[in-house]
Amino acid sequence: MPKTEFSPKEGLFPVPVVLVSSIDKTTGAANIITIAWCGVICSNPPMLSVSIRPSRHSHRLIKDAGDFVVNIPDSAMLKKVDLCGIRSGKDTDKFKECAFTRAPSVKVASPAIKECPVNIECKLKEIISLGTHDMFIGEVILIHADNNILTPKRGIDYAKASPFVFNQGEYWSLGKRIGYYGFSAK
Ligand SMILES: Cc1cc2nc3c(=O)[nH]c(=O)nc-3n(C[C@H](O)[C@H](O)[C@H](O)COP(=O)(O)O)c2cc1C
Repeated sequence: MPKTEFSPKEGLFPVPVVLVSSIDKTTGAANIITIAWCGVICSNPPMLSVSIRPSRHSHRLIKDAGDFVVNIPDSAMLKKVDLCGIRSGKDTDKFKECAFTRAPSVKVASPAIKECPVNIECKLKEIISLGTHDMFIGEVILIHADNNILTPKRGIDYAKASPFVFNQGEYWSLGKRIGYYGFSAK
């Protein structure tokens, strides 16, 4: 099959869509930003990265407070997820606008979003300026998951959390499991 060349762009498919909540250290106001440039970057210690443009309100909040919470939304929240990605906390209270409940975190100052089935509390370890985006590296300190999405062995069954991903400007749901880690050697 012949291939077509593209000039450099992100290219990777799919990417997660998460809601990152943060707190204003001075006023105590909470904010939410929709993030697609997010990923796992280390297993031990467990670390995630979220890349945020310096122009975003969340950029200053997370930099000042030194922590953030990565909240995994479900498909029923899609409209709110999109809204948190087009309105800024500079002039909108997105918790109020989306009727999300601010839940206190256990180990960090940033609050979580109660309605999201999974909340990942992160301590900010480093900010790396890359270009358009600054990469915020967060160490995972504590995870909360709704009891109704747990596996029998107390893992998280994300399939039960009705997840969705971002694909080149569009939101997509996921299909079915087609294999598992190491199955090729069985
Ligand atoms: C699906 C989606 C993904 C987004 N991903 C990112 C991202 O990875 N990094 C970023 O800086 N902005 C991203 N944005 C844009 C921000 O969410 C948006 O500018 C938001 O209004 C910023 O909120 P804030 O100013 O309250 O922090 C995304 C928006 C959408 C809708």
